[in-house]
Amino acid sequence: MQISNTNNIETHFLSDSHEDILIAADILKNGGLVAFPTETVYGLGGNALSPEASGAIYAAKGRPSDNPLIVHICDTASVNELANNITEEAKVLMEAFWPGPLTIILPKKDIVPDATTGGLKTVAIRMPSHPAALELIRESGVYIAAPSANISGRPSPTTAQHVAEDMTGRIEAIIDGGPVGIGIESTIVDLSSGLPTILRPGYITKKMLEELIGEVSIDPTLIHPDPNIRPKAPGMKYTHYAPKGELSIIERNEDVSDSSPEEKKAEAEAAVADTINALYKEKKSQGFTVKVLAPNEHSYLYDEKDLITVGSTTDGITVAARLYGALRECDDAGADFIYSESFRDYELGGAIMNRLLKAAGHRVIYV
Ligand code: TXA
Ligand code: MG
Repeated sequence: MQISNTNNIETHFLSDSHEDILIAADILKNGGLVAFPTETVYGLGGNALSPEASGAIYAAKGRPSDNPLIVHICDTASVNELANNITEEAKVLMEAFWPGPLTIILPKKDIVPDATTGGLKTVAIRMPSHPAALELIRESGVYIAAPSANISGRPSPTTAQHVAEDMTGRIEAIIDGGPVGIGIESTIVDLSSGLPTILRPGYITKKMLEELIGEVSIDPTLIHPDPNIRPKAPGMKYTHYAPKGELSIIERNEDVSDSSPEEKKAEAEAAVADTINALYKEKKSQGFTVKVLAPNEHSYLYDEKDLITVGSTTDGITVAARLYGALRECDDAGADFIYSESFRDYELGGAIMNRLLKAAGHRVIYV
């Protein structure tokens, strides 16, 4: 165990060994904050039933306190203590996807403080599958409220190093469980009233949910962002995941040529790369630091010294896993401008583009 004290709180850097998890569990029991790995992104945990701990989470993140926290549990029975009106659909989804990257919203019981739910009468609950997360919840004996362990507005952390960059001196401990597997936050589905509704897309897709519980809707603000309509998940309204530089997504317009599908694909790739390279050259010639985001297979299309690769064209899961790390690399390089290929047609494309479009402030250049 190493200790660092760069800000005002002494941050303990822990491994995911059983001994270290017991240290972290003690910190949580005593009202402190611990960052820990989950299968999606690293979380910043505190006792979910303690208004003081929730307040400390908001303070550490610099996050608006009307943005509710997800309560992490380690066994399904805990849902009965936290929520009312647990529907048949909720039971089916918990059974199928827990532990795993699915968060469900249900009417809250009084035991859950308003400080944790941002004043809402509902509570978001998830059972993560990462063994260190499950062990930490079990050993601490508390339900863990945990947002992503980044400073508000920064990309979510997918390694303990990312967490350390943002949280050293702000929280009591960071558990290093290595890089996470999925890399984007859990799917959130609202089961508190009416038709089950996806409030945030993620690894568990609409199709996977519908196969088990029938029709599921998507919060319309996810499809057509409108500044005048509030998303149902308060966190979705904030500018999230923003790199410091200006990010643009370059996308091929609907294609009307009569080429074969393979030719069309090659034409589209070339057209996107041409546009990215023209923008890249223009900004470089003006003296700016510029980075390009593209999948591994397209490396040959770009100047390798300013290319940051983001997974593989044949596997959207690898793109999701790399996305936030790539955005942080742009910050580390001091990028003024970032040009990214679109990942819309990839597996998990909906969830990936939800994050990338926000990071880009919806700046899309069609070619
Ligand atoms: O994968 C994840 O879910 C990660 C890991 C750490 O578990 N956590 C995470 O937490 O992404 P956070 O706080 O960054 O995002 C939680 C989202 C926010 O958009 C918030 O507004 C929404 O969940 N949320 C929480 N409780 C809600 C509720 N009762 N009703 C509607 N939205 C809610
Ligand atoms: Mg977050």
